[in-house]
Amino acid sequence: MKRIAVLTSGGDSAGMNPALKSIVEQSRRDRISVTGFLRGYLGLVNGLAIEMYYKTVAGIARKGGTVIKSSRLPEFREISVQKQAIANLGKNEIDGLIVIGGDGSIRGASALAALGVPIVAIPASIDNDIYGSDISLGVDTSLNTIVNSIDIIKDTASSHNRAFVIETMGRTSGYLALVGAMATGAEAVVIPEVPYDIECIANRLKEEHRKGREYSIVVVAEGTGATSKMSEALKQISNFDTRITVLGHLQRGGSPSVFDRILGFRLGSQAVRALIEGRSGVMMALEGSKIVEVPFEDVLTHKKLLGKRYLEYARRLSR
Ligand code: F6P
Repeated sequence: MKRIAVLTSGGDSAGMNPALKSIVEQSRRDRISVTGFLRGYLGLVNGLAIEMYYKTVAGIARKGGTVIKSSRLPEFREISVQKQAIANLGKNEIDGLIVIGGDGSIRGASALAALGVPIVAIPASIDNDIYGSDISLGVDTSLNTIVNSIDIIKDTASSHNRAFVIETMGRTSGYLALVGAMATGAEAVVIPEVPYDIECIANRLKEEHRKGREYSIVVVAEGTGATSKMSEALKQISNFDTRITVLGHLQRGGSPSVFDRILGFRLGSQAVRALIEGRSGVMMALEGSKIVEVPFEDVLTHKKLLGKRYLEYARRLSR
């Protein structure tokens, strides 16, 4: 193996840069050159390639986002587009590819693996919805931002005796909302994985308000689409003056946490080793404290579920 390539795809997440740094440094130790395809699969399909040297990755561990850019490319589902990507791998004399991204990106990687490309993936998505890894790159940083933001909002909520409905990202997953609510002691949570009753929550908070609770925090996962309904119910049923805060893309950027940096370093170097040792069609994953390899097929045919304790906690706060 003389040259490998790497790309970052889908929603960026903190930890992508530390992974890139580790891929380049591990490759250098193993005397392998590294090509970076810019803007994810878009760059692979259009041949937007750069040489990644030691200097390209110097000082990037502390940076959020991805220095080789990212994008979403739904067209990559088409076989003709995948073949164009393979042609570019050939043109650039690439012996193996590392894809860093979420489940859509791993689906793309799996299609390339089926066409014979030596390929491994690194799970990166703030949603923590990738089956096979306890946690994905970016989740920890995102949660730290969410918790800091809720703590900040509590200052103003308590000063005005208000209720706040705070919406987190997570597409179809309630993980960020739930863990954010748990870590800040929020009064209620609304996530897609657990049945919720908005009126019941509003009545409970009304009662708690009557008994002396001065302010309330309700964390809502974007995937429920229930943010405005929750706020309306609080306005009409409880006596709380209510405001909404949508955390949005604030949750995706920012300097990677220590956890995401170390995880990125570990996943990156193991991905290079896996390619060198001839393995393909696998995702590097964290299981307990170990880095393991999970076949793409397992990743893509299972849904990552919330643990039992998390579900119990969510049920308590959802009505
Ligand atoms: O998958 C990561 C994520 O941040 C989701 O939580 C969110 O629903 C989505 O990406 C937003 O995507 P975009 O940045 O393309 O609007």
